[in-house]
Amino acid sequence: MKKTILITGSTDGIGKLAATKLAKDGHEVYLHGRNATKLTKVIEEIKSLSGNESVNGFLADFSDLNAVKNMATQVNQELPKLDVLINNAGVWNSKNSHNNDGWDIRYVVNYFAPYLLTKRLLPLLQKGNDSRIINLSSAAQDPVNYDVMAGTVNQPERATYGQSKLALTMWSFDIAKKQNEISVIPVNPGSLLNTNMVKEAFGQFWSSADKGGNILYDLAVSNEYTGVTAKYFDNDKGEVKGTFSMAHPDAYDQQKVEKLIGTTEEILGTYLN
Ligand SMILES: NC(=O)c1ccc[n+]([C@@H]2O[C@H](COP(=O)([O-])OP(=O)(O)OC[C@H]3O[C@@H](n4cnc5c(N)ncnc54)[C@H](OP(=O)(O)O)[C@@H]3O)[C@@H](O)[C@H]2O)c1
Repeated sequence: MKKTILITGSTDGIGKLAATKLAKDGHEVYLHGRNATKLTKVIEEIKSLSGNESVNGFLADFSDLNAVKNMATQVNQELPKLDVLINNAGVWNSKNSHNNDGWDIRYVVNYFAPYLLTKRLLPLLQKGNDSRIINLSSAAQDPVNYDVMAGTVNQPERATYGQSKLALTMWSFDIAKKQNEISVIPVNPGSLLNTNMVKEAFGQFWSSADKGGNILYDLAVSNEYTGVTAKYFDNDKGEVKGTFSMAHPDAYDQQKVEKLIGTTEEILGTYLN
């Protein structure tokens, strides 16, 4: 069955690979990028590779939460429903360590932006069929430091990347609880996959980027995952293609999850209106 799928950060890396595979299956695929020229080029490339003309895109720099809000408005205007949202855009290294609000760039792009976008797209997802939210977590998950999250204390990218990924994982379980009709799966797509992010951060890789692209594709559309929710998928584990596993213990601590969601709503304040 043809699905409507939005993948953030799909102009490169594993998001682009998953988008290409989904387009080849004939799904209606919406890409997202921060650079207009690159976005247009990738849309044309995927159309040509897949022979599928139902490939379109949205533009927003996720370090700017007003741009995220505007994108959400556009998506709501253009799409009658959404079956799958893959919150994939992510950053480790960046020439700007903080955004214009003074918040760590990894918290903003990897956690605040998908939080805001998803919240605004829930009505579209509620209209979808077998709706799914796939959130890109990581093997790197570190306890949230609320001073760093609020932008009053700075820490190195290695620390804030892991914090942003645990925050996203904790929040995934919270949405799953509140949105019974939507499957929410946080996923570690595999460690040190061969993508720009990994090349820039580590200068080496352990596995092909396809390992990550393939699991995003599977989690998005495979019947195997229909109705599966609030489970963490770890693509570093398992025999063939990963398996459901345990996330960081904080993700299962209801008090910590509630504190995270409450603080996130306070920090994002007017962006949520
Ligand atoms: N690769 C791994 O080993 C690995 C492991 C665990 C988790 N992950 C997660 O997987 C996701 C995809 O990463 P990847 O490895 O495929 O990296 P990638 O090749 O660097 O792709 C990242 C994507 O996010 C986009 N992006 C970055 N900053 C953005 C911003 N400010 N606004 C909008 N889009 C932005 C990039 O856009 P441009 O095309 O413009 O650069 C690109 O499309 C990330 O969430 C990452 O944390 C990756």
